[in-house]
Amino acid sequence: MTKPIAIITGASSGIGQSLAIELSDKYFVYLVSRNVRNLNKTKKYIESKNNKCEIIISDITIEKSVNELYKKIHNKNQIELLINNAGIAIFKDISNTSVDDWDETINVNLRGAFLMTKSLINNFKKKKNGKVVFINSGAGLKPFANSSAYVASKYALRGFASSIREELREFNIKVISVFPGAVNTPLWNNKNVEEIRKDMMNVDDLCQSIVHSINAPNNCVVEEILIKRTLGDF
Ligand SMILES: NC(=O)c1ccc[n+]([C@@H]2O[C@H](COP(=O)([O-])OP(=O)(O)OC[C@H]3O[C@@H](n4cnc5c(N)ncnc54)[C@H](OP(=O)(O)O)[C@@H]3O)[C@@H](O)[C@H]2O)c1
Repeated sequence: MTKPIAIITGASSGIGQSLAIELSDKYFVYLVSRNVRNLNKTKKYIESKNNKCEIIISDITIEKSVNELYKKIHNKNQIELLINNAGIAIFKDISNTSVDDWDETINVNLRGAFLMTKSLINNFKKKKNGKVVFINSGAGLKPFANSSAYVASKYALRGFASSIREELREFNIKVISVFPGAVNTPLWNNKNVEEIRKDMMNVDDLCQSIVHSINAPNNCVVEEILIKRTLGDF
């Protein structure tokens, strides 16, 4: 039997890469992002487990790119899982946050998730089956200083996910928002936090917890999940 399909944005790095590798045991995985070299690294890991995947290069902020992405998926009736994971973080105070910083953050973290979800939601509705996962952040529940664009994008992402959850219940579509604390991924490169990176959550540990939530059976859905390191926030 062919495997169900999972589509994962931001699969070239960090949380998206780890989720793609973990989920490839159960799903045929489509790996989505812009950097083909890094996507190929994820593909190699998956193939080393004797699992299968395909790369689709796409910038999720661009409507045309997302629509083309959807067209490239074979066996569309097998799509069961969308993971809106791609995201960027710009940590600056408001005085130094440029309009470009603001637009880029909102475009990737919010508009990208909207475009991806919109592109395939009718597929899920028709089948009366599907799961949409949003990799949000602890910063989508609690504000942090010097990250207003990021916090705004993640609060809005929670609102978007919560709203569609209500309207998609009758279509048997599960909407899951995940709110992780700090995880040691390339997102933190060049952010002056080198001395605390080893104390952040391990990305594979986090992703095991996320996959556990995705796998809630039958009519159970883990709607929102806050995952922190045992010691709490930094
Ligand atoms: N690390 C943390 O501490 C942490 C905590 C809470 C939540 N999160 C959230 O987790 C998610 C993943 O973060 P991460 O830590 O894994 O970061 P990461 O290692 O920097 O990965 C970010 C991913 O997003 C992709 N991406 C960025 N812009 C894109 C675009 N326009 N189109 C398509 N893909 C794009 C990147 O791929 P390309 O460069 O190849 O396009 C990359 O694969 C984000 O939403 C982040 O906010 C992270």
